[in-house]
Amino acid sequence: MNDLHIGPASAADLSDVLDFWKSAAEGTSISDDPAGVERLHRRDPDALLLARRGGELVGTVIAGFDGWRCHLYRLAVHPGYRRQGIATALLAAAEERFAGLGGRRGDAMVLDRNASAHRAWDAAGYRPQEEWTRWVKAIDGPTR
Ligand SMILES: CC(C)(COP(=O)(O)OP(=O)(O)OC[C@H]1O[C@@H](n2cnc3c(N)ncnc32)[C@H](O)[C@@H]1OP(=O)(O)O)[C@@H](O)C(=O)NCCC(=O)NCCS
Repeated sequence: MNDLHIGPASAADLSDVLDFWKSAAEGTSISDDPAGVERLHRRDPDALLLARRGGELVGTVIAGFDGWRCHLYRLAVHPGYRRQGIATALLAAAEERFAGLGGRRGDAMVLDRNASAHRAWDAAGYRPQEEWTRWVKAIDGPTR
């Protein structure tokens, strides 16, 4: 893992990241389009962390801190590079960012049926909170 480099995405990386998510991420996020990812990058340029190996994009995570909570989104590793500790390294980098910002607890939404993700989050020390349910309302139209 010595050649793994993790750092914030640049504006020039964003379209590659959207392509990467099509093959590496689970499902599609409500903000998964150029406008969504550019807005994130303008608002918090260091939130989108990329893992590269030999220059190739092999993993992503969004480590978003809004001053209150630390949310993790879009943890995804290239299918050809899984089980090599890349998600573990991305989560460590995200947690380092949160700690530097004064964040107190990281959280992530994980699909109930995504068993391999459960194992990865569990291995990184995250635990489900069964007593909570996500309540949502779309800001700009019908609830998605
Ligand atoms: C989930 C995901 C990010 C894990 O990435 P990864 O780089 O392979 O994870 P790591 O190599 O850091 O795994 C760390 C530990 O997690 C556990 N783990 C990860 N994937 C696992 C799997 N498929 N089955 C069993 N355990 C798994 C293992 O304990 C592993 O340690 P080990 O390899 O020494 O046994 C990757 O499978 C992925 O991108 N999946 C599709 C997108 C996705 O579901 N993202 C999560 C959204 S919430």
